[in-house]
Amino acid sequence: MRSVRAKNLHLALQAPIENKYMGKPVGAGLLDYEVYLRTSELRSLQSSPQDLVIPDEMLFQIAHQSQELWLKLAAFETIGLVEAIDGDDLWAAAETLKRQILVMKTLESELAVISTLSPEAFLVVRRYLGNGSGLQSPGYFELLLAAEAANDALSDLLKRRGVSIRDVYEERARYRDLHHICERFVDLDSGFQMWLTAHFMLVRRTLGIDRSVKALDGFPTVALGPRTTKPLFPALWDVRVEMSRGWTREGGTSPATLRSRDTSPSHPSLSSRPLVACDESESASGIRAGLGNRK
Ligand code: HEM
Repeated sequence: MRSVRAKNLHLALQAPIENKYMGKPVGAGLLDYEVYLRTSELRSLQSSPQDLVIPDEMLFQIAHQSQELWLKLAAFETIGLVEAIDGDDLWAAAETLKRQILVMKTLESELAVISTLSPEAFLVVRRYLGNGSGLQSPGYFELLLAAEAANDALSDLLKRRGVSIRDVYEERARYRDLHHICERFVDLDSGFQMWLTAHFMLVRRTLGIDRSVKALDGFPTVALGPRTTKPLFPALWDVRVEMSRGWTREGGTSPATLRSRDTSPSHPSLSSRPLVACDESESASGIRAGLGNRK
């Protein structure tokens, strides 16, 4: 049974609200902000409060719609990314990648809100989804398509420069700009996989992950697990594997060996560094004394 206050609020939230600073109603869809952003249309895209099967359905719809919009932005931004890479403007490419990486983080963190949906509530909403499934998400497929184009642009850039991904990673100082771009691609891909991992945990706590539990299209939820780490840019992950495979112990010493900096062949920069700090105030004993004073 709803309290009178709750009933009044429910009604009040469905009518325009008088903005006393402007002396005009907000929510009628007539103000410039509302017209430009088409807020009336946007806010009519969820079931009306009377039509919701349960109040939690509002969360379900808004969370999905919001994710679709962020996915749309991530895919759209890839047009600019590809253009920048094709035009060898790596500063612009880095800026766009930064934005896309933040979108991925937003997608991931937003899932925390829908994770508050209980299994019982989800199973009620589920009856109204027809055969709808995540594999029908337009934003997701747009992003996969966009990532393919970005992948091609990156590989053409490396070809134009006459280097392989392996060269870039083995000679970071020589290929600083390419290395930076490759690492931002890795950040973007990590963000994507973190989002899918958060989604996996969401499915686990609402629907359950098991061979016997299937999505509405018959897809067994257990198959979601391996897909969380399926990369957008596989070559950038393969290079790590290749480098680790090629690793040998040669050049190292046992952990118990006392290291002599003068003779260290693998870190010439270390051998020229003095073993004690020149300035007494920054020396280990000076720092220790300072810590002692704070006690
Ligand atoms: C309670 C909330 C959710 C549940 C129970 C759920 C459940 C599932 C299940 C069972 C699958 C397996 C494949 C299939 O559906 O056919 C799936 C896939 C997927 N879902 Fe969700 N989902 C939820 C929320 C979301 C949200 C908010 C999004 C955001 C757009 C989303 C996007 C996707 C995508 C893109 C896939 C395909 C993943 C892949 O290719 O591995 N899901 N979801």
